Amino acid sequence: SLGKCPFRGTRIGGALGKQPQIDDWWPNRLKVELLHQDPPQANPLSDLDYKEAFEKIDYEELKKDIKRLLTDSKDWWPADYGNYGPQMIRMAWHSAGTYRIADGRGGAGQAMQRFAPINSWWDNGNIDKSRRLIWPIKQKYGEAISWADLIVLTGNCALEIMGFKTFGFGAGRRDAWEPDRGTYWGTEFWNGKTVYETSKHDHNGHPGEMVTRNIRWIGEPKDQYYDLENPLAATNQALIYVDPEGPNGNGNPLDSARDIRETFARMAMNDEETVALIAGGHAFGKSHGMVSAEEIGPAPEGAPIQAMGMGWQNPKGTGFGKYTMTNGIEGSWTPNPTQWDNSYLENLFKYEWEQTKSPAGAVQYKPVDPNAPKTPDAHEEGKMNELMMMTSDLALKDDPVYNKICRKFLDDFDYFSDAFARAWFKLTHRDMGPKDRYFGPEIPKEDLIWQDPIPKRNHPVIDSSGIKHLKDKILNSGNSISALVSAAWSSASNYRDSDKRGGANGARVRLNPMKDWEINRPEELKKVMASLESIAHDFNHSQSDGKKVSLADLIVLGGCAAIEKSASAAGISIEVPFTTGRMDTTQELTDAESFDWLKPVSDGFRNYHNDQVGFHIPPEHIFLDRAQLLTLTAPEWTVLVGGLRVLDQNYDHSKLGVFTDRPGVLTNDFFRVLTSMDYEWVPVDDKEMIFNLNDRKSGETRYKASRCDLIFGSNAQLRNIAEVYAADNGLHRFIKDFVKVWDKIMMLDRYDVKNA
Ligand code: HEM
Repeated sequence: SLGKCPFRGTRIGGALGKQPQIDDWWPNRLKVELLHQDPPQANPLSDLDYKEAFEKIDYEELKKDIKRLLTDSKDWWPADYGNYGPQMIRMAWHSAGTYRIADGRGGAGQAMQRFAPINSWWDNGNIDKSRRLIWPIKQKYGEAISWADLIVLTGNCALEIMGFKTFGFGAGRRDAWEPDRGTYWGTEFWNGKTVYETSKHDHNGHPGEMVTRNIRWIGEPKDQYYDLENPLAATNQALIYVDPEGPNGNGNPLDSARDIRETFARMAMNDEETVALIAGGHAFGKSHGMVSAEEIGPAPEGAPIQAMGMGWQNPKGTGFGKYTMTNGIEGSWTPNPTQWDNSYLENLFKYEWEQTKSPAGAVQYKPVDPNAPKTPDAHEEGKMNELMMMTSDLALKDDPVYNKICRKFLDDFDYFSDAFARAWFKLTHRDMGPKDRYFGPEIPKEDLIWQDPIPKRNHPVIDSSGIKHLKDKILNSGNSISALVSAAWSSASNYRDSDKRGGANGARVRLNPMKDWEINRPEELKKVMASLESIAHDFNHSQSDGKKVSLADLIVLGGCAAIEKSASAAGISIEVPFTTGRMDTTQELTDAESFDWLKPVSDGFRNYHNDQVGFHIPPEHIFLDRAQLLTLTAPEWTVLVGGLRVLDQNYDHSKLGVFTDRPGVLTNDFFRVLTSMDYEWVPVDDKEMIFNLNDRKSGETRYKASRCDLIFGSNAQLRNIAEVYAADNGLHRFIKDFVKVWDKIMMLDRYDVKNA
């Protein structure tokens, strides 16, 4: 009856977006909409040429403005020691420190720190204040400097006013305009043990829940939960760093060292870089722990509306200055917290340290020797305090490998300064991708290996007659359509937009480690490369005007030629766009270990699943993740897969999803079979990974498919797109759209010719 209608009263309860929503009903659904995040509609500056706007700034004036502000203390948040520098360094470090090499996500590149959940992580306590303090600069320059660039540049300016020489600065970070819903940051879970990790409010501001971060399992025995996460292990981590009080707040420096090594490795930092960063960073500023965490108000995202986006309201005293409560540990590491010097390491090594507690109850260390140097109070003139070290600082002394590095830094302050400058530059620029994306007057000249360098072009490029000549040569080289498309796809599709690494430029597909990845069909690839190399050699030696074609270009051109041929076999003549200008890089300029992170564990584009990994995440979800890293929309993703299947692109030449009797011809057969009711789809076993497509009438098995094939017929959003291409009049659109997205993939890394 009407009286029992569950929707009664929806005028109050039914506001837009109120739960339950589709994800609450079906939490395991494939979230295809994640491909359409941060759309131009969300960006008030979508028409902005950021590079042009930035280059018009008086850069020196901008830096002067920032530096002036850093020592202009404001009553609403008085600066420690009259200098905001240290808190700005921490802001920049936390902006960048979310980077993880496994999937390239995180990092300073989009100023994600402005949005939930990152803006509300306990680790980021009071960084809301740091961003508010630099708002006058942001306001003065407006769209001409992004938040992401300003946050890093402010960190650099802070280092400079305190006597440190930075390695440089590259602008070019473009802000995001909405929270990132895709990145998996790890689960937060319950633990009421330590003050540092507990708060009266969880990260959403729900009162009464004790929340801690999912860091402690790092290096712990693998429990079931860990096993589940393991496949992504590399992709999922974690918050910014480790518990400063040691794992579980246990105060044990050696345990802490183990966690630090793991966490910083995920950030792509080696031992020396790790020590340089921690010892360099903690030369400045102080930790804040005057008030118990229980008394602190909710994080920004959960704070009341009148807090205007700021959180962690502190009810004690003024709530700031000498009452400040951020992390829970209290004190400074050095006698000169606003001066670049070596006193952090000097005191760490010169004195023995004993455990004590901060006023907020956090585990920390103080010098055993009562005559150890003291450090000035941040706010009370004339007052001197004991030095402080965190458990994670003592890790640098107690761990034998870190210890050795520290001693080197102690002996050679210039070496240490250079190591910190380089590590800081890497930290803050790591996720920006190729140097072509940097702009501004402070770009370091030196190429750095983590920038994945590609030599500058030193010759004229081929013209249209050269292109035509080369296409003919390639098509007559005896390589199959499938092999040529596969080489081009292998070369380009390892790109990931998260940190802008990979892609066809450089032709790294012919180098270690990519040339041997099973997914790239190494044997076949070797043959294609040999014939392309000989075509390039002949061509380059027959040019009188110095024109040259790189192997990188030729690999892509081979894909273009093959696709044109496959389209014409389907009766449609189309030209696949080709932009020349790629260069070949070398093995020496390739950090093989770091490139191995680009190797997929599972890749639906080529029906590749590494069973060794034994993960429990359905392959289609990992497939979505890869589509997102390639910046594909749902229609682009769909049309691409339909094309790759009929072009016989499975890594092992298997017939999974190859729903056609004419492989190598660019037909819409994949979609026609996928949407046809003539078949039923039967899993071959209870794993439900592989399926037979049986003719409903005869029962005969006509095709085989994987989950990554069937998802385009099973998921409602994808199926509706598949229907467009399956239509009787859908072939033209299919080929046109396939060619367009193919070109997009080939061009993803071409920051040498695009401004993005
Ligand atoms: C402050 C922990 C690495 C720079 C702090 C604070 C903690 C902490 C707990 C105090 C926050 C507060 O209460 O205000 C750690 C841990 C690290 C680490 C556990 C890694 C194991 C770094 C790195 C840098 C850095 C790599 C920069 C390169 C700073 C600075 C401050 C600070 C400048 C002082 C902020 C201020 O004065 O307001 N760190 N940190 N830290 N950290 Fe770190």
